[in-house]
Amino acid sequence: MPGILLGDVFPNFEADTTIGKIKFHDFLGDSWGILFSHPRDFTPVCTTELACAARISDEFKKRSVKMIALSIDSVEDHKGWSKDVMAFNSEGETPLPFPIIADDKRELSVQLGMLDPDERDKDGMPLTARCVFVIGPDKKLKLSILYPATTGRNFDELLRVIDSLQLTAQKKVATPVDWKPGDKVMVIPSLSDAEAASLFPNGVTTKDLPSGKKYLRYTKV
Ligand code: BEZ
Repeated sequence: MPGILLGDVFPNFEADTTIGKIKFHDFLGDSWGILFSHPRDFTPVCTTELACAARISDEFKKRSVKMIALSIDSVEDHKGWSKDVMAFNSEGETPLPFPIIADDKRELSVQLGMLDPDERDKDGMPLTARCVFVIGPDKKLKLSILYPATTGRNFDELLRVIDSLQLTAQKKVATPVDWKPGDKVMVIPSLSDAEAASLFPNGVTTKDLPSGKKYLRYTKV
């Protein structure tokens, strides 16, 4: 079955893009990466998404995350659409700050399991769903999210998720519901209390629960 699972090495595909031909691992270098797909160029929801991604691209850069979009149209279409996107942001003279992959043969979309069977073009061909892949510096898949074509994504949530991925790659913690940088984090269940005490000098607090089990352990990092 096509697709990619958490922990898999992301395929080192070759593709035509708005910045020329790339090999994906070379494009990423030592950085993190985010690849987000779109159903089609010159469509309304996709345009709002790309425009938002462009507006907050400096936030991805600060986190050392290289951005790349994908849609199933040609490089020429992508270049024309990029101008619309930047004009939508009232920045008509500025280039789109990240490349777009041209997957006009849908080869990559099939390989990565990105097609949405419920959304088809006028010829009955399936369109790409709104996939998000976050890839770590080790080139392994750290997160994937799949939205249907009819639901736009929240790029602030993607930044929040990247903050969690980067923190939890470094420290033996997990981030609770709605966590934001600076909030308390949770000690992961596989750490003993003694290990947690030595790893977290800011201390560990535990919430009492009816079960008597001490699994809600908070710390500050
Ligand atoms: C859009 O980007 O607006 C869109 C694309 C395909 C299906 C539905 C919406």
